[in-house]
Amino acid sequence: MNTVSLFDLTGKVAVVTGGGDGIGKGCCEILAGAGASVVVSDLSVEKAQTTADEIVRAGGEAVATACNVLNENDLTALIEFTVKTYCTVNILVNNAGLGGGGRENPFKIDRAYVERIYAINVFAPWQLCKLAVPYMQESGYGSIINITSMSSVNNEPDMAIYGSSKAALNHMASNLAFDYGPMGVRINNVAPGATNTQALASVLTPELKEKMLERTPIKRLGDVSDIAGAVLYFAAPVSAWVSGQVLMVNGGGVQTLD
Ligand SMILES: NC(=O)c1ccc[n+]([C@@H]2O[C@H](COP(=O)([O-])OP(=O)(O)OC[C@H]3O[C@@H](n4cnc5c(N)ncnc54)[C@H](O)[C@@H]3O)[C@@H](O)[C@H]2O)c1
Repeated sequence: MNTVSLFDLTGKVAVVTGGGDGIGKGCCEILAGAGASVVVSDLSVEKAQTTADEIVRAGGEAVATACNVLNENDLTALIEFTVKTYCTVNILVNNAGLGGGGRENPFKIDRAYVERIYAINVFAPWQLCKLAVPYMQESGYGSIINITSMSSVNNEPDMAIYGSSKAALNHMASNLAFDYGPMGVRINNVAPGATNTQALASVLTPELKEKMLERTPIKRLGDVSDIAGAVLYFAAPVSAWVSGQVLMVNGGGVQTLD
């Protein structure tokens, strides 16, 4: 057994959505560090370019492209761009996501909001899987990782739409594992607990942080590298016989917003 080769992604091509910041950026960096060529995509092409530039400066291989995962044409263009640039797709990280934060009073949100959250958290990952899997099958190596959330299993107020969309993504992956397995493609989900990013900063107060830490055995909130490490595990050959799983990365605890 060779530990280094089990984590080696040299020659593999990875696509990450929302790679310009937060967890997505951490995923791009760790995959490039393991040798993958990374397509960093983001709603903000400037942020995507910054991530790609930092990877290249550190000796890795990456390119940036704009992709709003709410736009179906952008999803097609992302996979086409990846294949044109690096000839195939081996790893897909469906990271871009929206919603939650305890802001979903079920009597105040409207249908348009619900459709938007499901479009970004469920439809876009499904569509990107559909577009990428044929290339993964053809190349002989495929691993898809969806970033879901602890909210997919937690029960808490004002989180029904975000929580259920991430739960849908969990269930979608465990079912798709059956469809994709015979094609040589694995699909797994990483479910972060509260992780230090801009998205968390928009809802975190000192009081809420204290409450979260009371219920967290490892006495800190998550860092982007904690989540990226789990993504690397699922992307790499070390997890070759693992598919359809959801890995909670949450300091061993439950960080709810109530
Ligand atoms: N941070 C947490 O505590 C936490 C916890 C659980 C799950 N998550 C999940 O992790 C993922 C990343 O969250 P984060 O905290 O890193 O967010 P973030 O706000 O730090 O970064 C999100 C990135 O996605 C990009 N983005 C936003 N809308 C987009 C769109 N429509 N198309 C493409 N890119 C878009 C943004 O420009 C940004 O670069 C999300 O799916 C989120 O639900 C985060």
